[in-house]
Amino acid sequence: MKSFYITTPIYYVNDKPHIGHAYTTILADVLARYHRLLDVPTFFLTGTDEHGQKVAEAAKAKGIEPIEQCETTVVRFRELWEKLEITNDDFIRTTEDRHKRVVQEILQRLYDDGEIYKANYEGSYCTPCERFYTDKDLVEGRCPECNRDVDTIIEPNYFFRMGKEQEWLIEYIDNHPEFIQPAHRRNETLGFLRKPLGDLCISRPKSRLSWGIELPFDKDYVCYVWFDALINYIGVPGYGSDDSRFSKFWPATYHLIGKDILTTHTVYWPIMLKAIGIDLPQTIFAHGWWLVGKDKMGKSLGNVVDPMKMCDDYGIDAFRYFLLAEMTPGNDASFTDKAFIDRYNTDLADNLGNMLNRAVKLIHRYFDGRIPEAGPEEDVDAQLKSVTFAAVEQMTDALGSMKLDRGLDAAMGVVKECNRYFEQTAPWILAKEKNTERLGTVLYTAAESLRIVSGLLFPIMPTKMAAMREVLGLGEDKATPKLADLSRWAVLESGTKIQDLHSLFPRIETQKNESNPTKKNKDKHKMNDGKDAPDLGVIDISDVGKVKLKTAKIIVAEKIEGADRILRLEIMVGSEQRQIIAGIAQYYSPEELIGKTIVVVTNLKPATIRGVESNGMLLAAKDKDGLHLITADGNCESGAEVG
Ligand code: ME8
Ligand code: MG
Repeated sequence: MKSFYITTPIYYVNDKPHIGHAYTTILADVLARYHRLLDVPTFFLTGTDEHGQKVAEAAKAKGIEPIEQCETTVVRFRELWEKLEITNDDFIRTTEDRHKRVVQEILQRLYDDGEIYKANYEGSYCTPCERFYTDKDLVEGRCPECNRDVDTIIEPNYFFRMGKEQEWLIEYIDNHPEFIQPAHRRNETLGFLRKPLGDLCISRPKSRLSWGIELPFDKDYVCYVWFDALINYIGVPGYGSDDSRFSKFWPATYHLIGKDILTTHTVYWPIMLKAIGIDLPQTIFAHGWWLVGKDKMGKSLGNVVDPMKMCDDYGIDAFRYFLLAEMTPGNDASFTDKAFIDRYNTDLADNLGNMLNRAVKLIHRYFDGRIPEAGPEEDVDAQLKSVTFAAVEQMTDALGSMKLDRGLDAAMGVVKECNRYFEQTAPWILAKEKNTERLGTVLYTAAESLRIVSGLLFPIMPTKMAAMREVLGLGEDKATPKLADLSRWAVLESGTKIQDLHSLFPRIETQKNESNPTKKNKDKHKMNDGKDAPDLGVIDISDVGKVKLKTAKIIVAEKIEGADRILRLEIMVGSEQRQIIAGIAQYYSPEELIGKTIVVVTNLKPATIRGVESNGMLLAAKDKDGLHLITADGNCESGAEVG
């Protein structure tokens, strides 16, 4: 492979990024990191799409200029990529001069060549999607993408001669199975191409939309946002400015996209490239959709998952791992807090973290914290070794075929095999029997296997895997693995001092009975920091301040069908009405609760209990007689601070 060039879509700056954007960018990052480990010259590009109606409208809604909308939102993207340790080599904003220049050069040339012409346009236009549709495209008169009503528009415009290339494109796609992946997306594009392909309207009159790149041959028009945006993929690596760099990286190895923008990438873009006179990218890979539970994610549904918050709550590497492990790249995937926590606890805390912990503790205890010597190899050892090497191959295949989730499965399979290996070889019994040679072999074999796992997972969890490698004595210059070392055995040197281990992936504790107010653990999810600091049971005043307590008046109390321990309460906290679910049904009847002024924790993360959202937690005392609600003395109003 002479070079590896990977792109993400350039994202609209109409809103801040969510996990969908994070996913595409993390996937690209992981692939870029792997290729850098392979010493393949790598170029990884992401950026923002700043023109067009969507951005103009977002600005208008806030009463600001489009450029201000861009300036404030691009920061959110940059910050997120920094947080997620994204290693993009460049970041393109379509409002930059370097981009506008290439777009205008190409527009002028295509116009001079007769590939762009002026004509009257009459058609149906979906404003939110910024797409014109033919009557055939419309579904019951509405937009086929978003199902909203369309507007009829007649105006002179500029068109790109796209229709004449239909046959050529079909043939190209047929002859290049790698061009559109996965295969079901290729079929989708071929299906689209079965209908006649019209020419593409690539202008917008400034009177209707002025936020765009001006057409160099008609100052009354700006360029259609997609025609402008796609060009970033060639402009940045040097088309029209740096021929040698451009020929080094073009054709792109991958344009990674979501399935929403398949047509623009697999129909418009190849035809644009042909007209410009350059080769097509190798592969356009369209991944599936992140859903939240079973629902589409969206502002209107109020279920948008914030990647910044996920990182703050659970850690950056865990979030990167989850996204890649949970989605099979061609298919949709579902995000829920429960799925996240389950996968984190199973794969990272109980499997990987635990195995490393076991091995490291034994090496500390029996070999004074130094990597032991390996004696003669037995069948079980050879077995673990072969599972490990098989995983290296599986990961390599997975990278080549964009099946990273399978590669991760294989890596986690090695860790499971390590755990099993300990059960089979029982190092604690070897220790008791003082069979030091065999014990050394077992611990060496397990440590080697874990070294290889840390290398396989390095591009996905760079910080945690560097920490893991340091624990295994691979500090400093060896923190970053060499790919060649992943298919070699006996890289760890006997006698090397290993480090102490602070729990790499502390379990996320979820309260088993979330409705039980007497539970000590008040946080729904509590990360135990794993440091073995003595717990004196004393906290600081600032810890007390973290829990916001207020008085609240119960206005509704009712049973929940099928749940005999919990009640649904509606409470007033001052003027704010909230719903909480409380495990008090065995002690209080709904009737006797109404009107009581109780004390609630108001800053608890909302939880869903028996399918009902609980937004807060009440305080109660429990003794041998049962449960006693904490209430406010006298005639205290609701919403008063407690503390
Ligand atoms: O379409 N699941 O930008 P955009 C998975 N500016 N991926 C998702 C997702 C979800 N729920 N939501 C978004 C544009 N994405 C154009 C692109 S490129 C020349 C111009 C990801 O901000 C996915 O990669 O709407 C999708 O294709 C992209 O964000 C769309 O981002
Ligand atoms: Mg979009």
